[in-house]
Amino acid sequence: MKDVTTKLSYGLYVLTSWSDGKPVGCIVNCAMQITAIPASFAVSVNHDNFTTECIKKTGKFAICILAEDSDPSLIGTFGFKSGRDIDKFDKVGYTVESRLPVINDSCGFIVCDVINTMESETHTVFLGAQVAAEQYGDRTPMTYDYYHKVIKGKSPKNAPTYRADSEQAADAPIKTRKFKCEICGFVYEGDELPEDYVCPICGVGPEHFTEIE
Ligand SMILES: Cc1cc2nc3c(=O)[nH]c(=O)nc-3n(C[C@H](O)[C@H](O)[C@H](O)COP(=O)(O)O)c2cc1C
Repeated sequence: MKDVTTKLSYGLYVLTSWSDGKPVGCIVNCAMQITAIPASFAVSVNHDNFTTECIKKTGKFAICILAEDSDPSLIGTFGFKSGRDIDKFDKVGYTVESRLPVINDSCGFIVCDVINTMESETHTVFLGAQVAAEQYGDRTPMTYDYYHKVIKGKSPKNAPTYRADSEQAADAPIKTRKFKCEICGFVYEGDELPEDYVCPICGVGPEHFTEIE
């Protein structure tokens, strides 16, 4: 049976905050505007995400809106690795706006103060009041659908919209051979995996790819 939840629409965002003066963040698709005046926004973040504990400590978060042509390695870095292990902002251009780090390679940002939280079994939902927002140029925002269908990206277990690999693979067009990135789950399709291939999502080489059915 088809999973109707795949028909829900989302964008793709880098959700940021601070940890002891260092910028932190993770990819979320579960972000939405809740009210207009005053403007408020909600995000749903897994209890295991480092970003969750940082937002709880600071009471602040920023939603950075990714564009279709944002560097896909942002998704590899912020969506498949943890700020507990690496400095995700090491090679990423950012500025500090209203005391929050925001990603330059994006459509813009919304900075929020946390005004309420709700706990589910696996995720914390933060409700934030907008304190600042800015649009950069006029770029096309990345949708979750675009990420899946055009970039052919996957979602890790911590994403609220995670689906088992087999279900995600059902959406993919049938080609001759498939090679899966063991880091981010990206699937390359073609006759051979080129020796100098670089994963468009997380930037690793062919040694991290395994052929799948
Ligand atoms: C496409 C995509 C969508 C995601 N959406 C969410 C989300 O809405 N909520 C969430 O908690 N994690 C989501 N994630 C997973 C986190 O970004 C991921 O677990 C990240 O490594 C956590 O980093 P941190 O430990 O530094 O916070 C998503 C990841 C990807 C690639």
